[in-house]
Amino acid sequence: DKILMVEQILSEFRLNKEDLKEIMKRMQREMGRGLRLETHEEASVKMLPTYVRSTPEGSEVGDFLALDLGGTNFRVMLVKVGEDEERSWKVETKNQMYSIPEDAMTGTAEMLFDYIAECMSDFLDKHHIKHKKLPLGFTFSFPVRHEDIDKGILLNWTKGFKASGAEGNNVVGLLRDAIKRRGDFEMDVVAMVNDTVATMISCYYEDRSCEVGMIVGTGCNACYMEEMRTVELVEGEEGRMCVNTEWGAFGDNGELEEFRLEYDRVVDETSINPGRQLYEKLISGKYMGELVRLVVMKLVNEDLLFNGEASELLKTRGSFETRYVSQVESDTGDRKQIYNILSSLGVLPSELDCDIVRLVCESVSTRSAHMCGAGLAGVINVMRERRCQEALKITVGVDGSVYKLHPCFRDRFHKIVWDLTPHCEITFIQSEEGSGRGAALISAVASKMAACLL
Ligand code: BG6
Ligand code: GLC
Repeated sequence: DKILMVEQILSEFRLNKEDLKEIMKRMQREMGRGLRLETHEEASVKMLPTYVRSTPEGSEVGDFLALDLGGTNFRVMLVKVGEDEERSWKVETKNQMYSIPEDAMTGTAEMLFDYIAECMSDFLDKHHIKHKKLPLGFTFSFPVRHEDIDKGILLNWTKGFKASGAEGNNVVGLLRDAIKRRGDFEMDVVAMVNDTVATMISCYYEDRSCEVGMIVGTGCNACYMEEMRTVELVEGEEGRMCVNTEWGAFGDNGELEEFRLEYDRVVDETSINPGRQLYEKLISGKYMGELVRLVVMKLVNEDLLFNGEASELLKTRGSFETRYVSQVESDTGDRKQIYNILSSLGVLPSELDCDIVRLVCESVSTRSAHMCGAGLAGVINVMRERRCQEALKITVGVDGSVYKLHPCFRDRFHKIVWDLTPHCEITFIQSEEGSGRGAALISAVASKMAACLL
């Protein structure tokens, strides 16, 4: 009967089909409001135009530098873009990861961008290409209001970044200034894209039906190709433009209130951006482990786990990492993995404790997959309506640690998306090195267009 009581508590995480349809509908409503000029300001889902268009004018070939900031790792890459008859292709040559020190993330924008320029300088030295002025594609995974593909202001930080003096400023400008301050190399910043956009572009070169990009990692977001005539923030009617939905902020106007649980409220209140990114906080890797920990603590306090006693570590915020959720759910049934994780957190679990913790992980990660699935189904149904197609055949490029590393997220997620999108034929492809390739490929297109203008 312990299990029954646990299941009772966990049942709050379950979303039935009606709930999911409702969430999908609300997502679609917010998307519509974000696209329209008169409601854009107040909409929670910002639907940001990216200036990535459906009709590229061919592309440059050669070497490109790519930066990737905003996921788990900061990376500098050198990408070779070559060409065959029909399509650009890439040969990635070099790739280096750098960790971002805490004080660069939370200090001033200058400190952050100086650090980025320092990493670039180190990379160029290592590969003996400091003398070259390479074109650069910057994958910057935060909400940016673009004025063009190489110009846009950061609206607000998300995912725990908070370097001061960046919000409201042109991000490419901040990068150029930092490079200038160093003065030991030159760079031609030609494009800045969101990680969802880089992911979509990188997959597009393998599959021309790829018109949606999605990330489920530290954060959660999606982009898709929208008809120009409905992108009211940008002039012009012809063709399509990629829109960065920034759907992580869905719910910030109260659209998710009846679905948010006490644990979600704690996660939000203790975050550095309370009241913001509420949909993302139900889904993404930055928050999933902490949600599990809070539920576990609730069960301890109800005397349903660990004989009613938690360790100091388990009481500590952030101690239950999101990767543990994947590991717990990967346990083959002998509970070894679960036991090891829990004992590393300072408790000695019984077999039943292990089973209960697994149920908690399953509840949290399943809700995450279903919530996220409702959002994507919303996007795809909007695309189908716009295109007035009887059946929509579409490919979604996906990246992110939760999608890639959790043992069951993907299948649960796909199932909900397929369930909620009748008359659509959806294929999912996983992007490999998406940001590097995507940023380089779009830079190749952007350089060509710039060259045409000259
Ligand atoms: C990476 C991409 O593979 O996935 C990044 O290169 C992206 O651009 C990241 O931000 C998202 O996943 P995570 O789990 O690192 O946040
Ligand atoms: C956050 C960011 C968004 C990014 C996503 C995935 O939601 O605001 O720009 O795409 O995380 O990294």
